[in-house]
Amino acid sequence: MIPLASPLAQYRSHAVAIDDAIRRVLDSGQYILGHDVERFEGAFADFCGTVHAIGVNSGTDALALALRALDIGAGHEVITVSHTALATAAAIFETGATPVLVDVDPRNRTIDIAGIEAAVTPRSRAIVPVHIDGQAVEMDAVLAIAKRHGLKVIEDCAQAAGGRYQGRRLGALGDAGCFSFYPTKNLGAIGDGGMVVSSDPSLAGRVRRLRQYGWDERRRTNEAGFNSRLDALQAAILLAKLPRLDEANERRVAIARRYASGLAGLPLTLPAIRPGGEHVFHHYAVECDESQALFRYLAGRDIGAAACHRLPVHRHDGYATRVIVPPAGLPVTESLAARVLGLPIYPELNDADADRVVAAVRAFFTSGR
Ligand SMILES: Cc1ncc(COP(=O)(O)O)c(C=O)c1O
Repeated sequence: MIPLASPLAQYRSHAVAIDDAIRRVLDSGQYILGHDVERFEGAFADFCGTVHAIGVNSGTDALALALRALDIGAGHEVITVSHTALATAAAIFETGATPVLVDVDPRNRTIDIAGIEAAVTPRSRAIVPVHIDGQAVEMDAVLAIAKRHGLKVIEDCAQAAGGRYQGRRLGALGDAGCFSFYPTKNLGAIGDGGMVVSSDPSLAGRVRRLRQYGWDERRRTNEAGFNSRLDALQAAILLAKLPRLDEANERRVAIARRYASGLAGLPLTLPAIRPGGEHVFHHYAVECDESQALFRYLAGRDIGAAACHRLPVHRHDGYATRVIVPPAGLPVTESLAARVLGLPIYPELNDADADRVVAAVRAFFTSGR
């Protein structure tokens, strides 16, 4: 079986460092926050090029806490995309604000810049651009609109740890960047985890208090908070893996190149790489008129493809009536939802298995239908 992603292969390739880290934390007796979390926060801030990093319980919490720390809540609108993980919208709901969903650009699959402009109202407070599949959003355009309308920018970097835009790490461009360390992510934990990065000291300080009941350093509060702490085991594991994140992303890019040359000429739309962006290929998502048939064909050959974002946010029953969608709808998002198929991609996927995926996709188009 060639899986879509393989946290197990990730563990095995880092086993010595991870086992050491776990043993060290077990022997330290400090299992929540503390020294290991602070070390990882420092290393991750340096990695991203921000002043602050605050470890939290998940990527969803990272987004929700960053929004709350910017005073965004009930009565406010937050502009984002529907072509994303449900978590992006769930985090906005958690604050009491309303997600305003705009379409994506068909080539890069990231937020459509004209769509943002059209979605701004007096209630708008923030934009949450999503670096979907590892593709960098056109951040200079997003930041320019935000500046013009006085909006905050919280980058959803859950799928893009290590990616860059115009040479800067994703997460360091907006007011805050939010990461998920869900095990399949480019930097994956062995459990849940998330991070808010920012160079704004007041935003960072507030997230730090909000993640633990609202406590300050003296365990006093002047506002209510939550429990969204990162645990020391996850932090130590992530710190052990961080030095090899760039190498892991380079391997993802090499697999993407192999797929691009192997799949050329087929009736598929292959992922684009935005000029100025460094894609980190969390997903390798192709578009295909027969995506469901191709999915079944690959599954029958033990290849774990998956529909990435097949059900966009505004099509989820639990969310549909609570989000704002433009009058013209979200045609590109709808088309992607019907057509996108993610092929296996993870750093430990070897060339022979990548070639097996290519051969199976080619066989589908030449003889499998
Ligand atoms: C784009 C995006 N945003 C947010 C999240 C939320 O992360 P988590 O699952 O850690 O809460 C995810 C991960 O599922 C994601 O892919």
